[in-house]
Amino acid sequence: MTDASELKWSADEAARIVRETYGAVVPTGSKVAQSLYTADELAVLPEAVVGMALGMGNPVRYADLKPGEVVLDLGSGGGIDTLLAALKVGPPGRAIGLDMTPEMLEKARASAAAAGVKNVEFIEGRMEAIPLPDASVDVIISNGVINLSTEKGKVFAEAFRVLRPAGRLVFSDSVIDGTLPREVLESEAAYAG
Ligand SMILES: C[S@@+](CC[C@H](N)C(=O)[O-])C[C@H]1O[C@@H](n2cnc3c(N)ncnc32)[C@H](O)[C@@H]1O
Repeated sequence: MTDASELKWSADEAARIVRETYGAVVPTGSKVAQSLYTADELAVLPEAVVGMALGMGNPVRYADLKPGEVVLDLGSGGGIDTLLAALKVGPPGRAIGLDMTPEMLEKARASAAAAGVKNVEFIEGRMEAIPLPDASVDVIISNGVINLSTEKGKVFAEAFRVLRPAGRLVFSDSVIDGTLPREVLESEAAYAG
């Protein structure tokens, strides 16, 4: 067994692995989505967004979103949670999906257009340096993304910077309790999930 800190990817290496991996992802069917979302939640979404679900939970279910709120989805991927959030907060509320992988942003924007959801936008950037002003967001959600950062302290500092006072942060993710074998720590595929 090896201490993970000995083998930690640099931030640049991690960003490259994430972009390469998620830039190449294609829709994989509805199995993941069906395990995380209800049939009612999925019924209002285009097939393309359902097939791109890559999360680990359903943060919108626990975020207690209210009409008019501004929601930020860190690592929005194909956009499933961003679209569900946009539908919950309705206009004048809005949902912003943030992702660092251009191919994912393209897919999410196409799905928003197909779904006819207008109070949503997808912006390019990294959650370690969120391209939004201080205190501009009511709720941050994230699904299966924070584990991909080698700079989690920066992610939480940025989340608290952009959240308004009494804002909420609701995320689903994986944690490791223990050590991993060296071959796993050295594997780009295992890192990117
Ligand atoms: C496992 S997928 C999850 C996508 C989506 N949240 C879902 O539930 O389907 C991870 C996504 O996070 C994005 N991502 C990973 N690290 C990121 C970072 N540091 N900043 C912004 N986006 C990131 C990837 O490009 C990818 O689209």
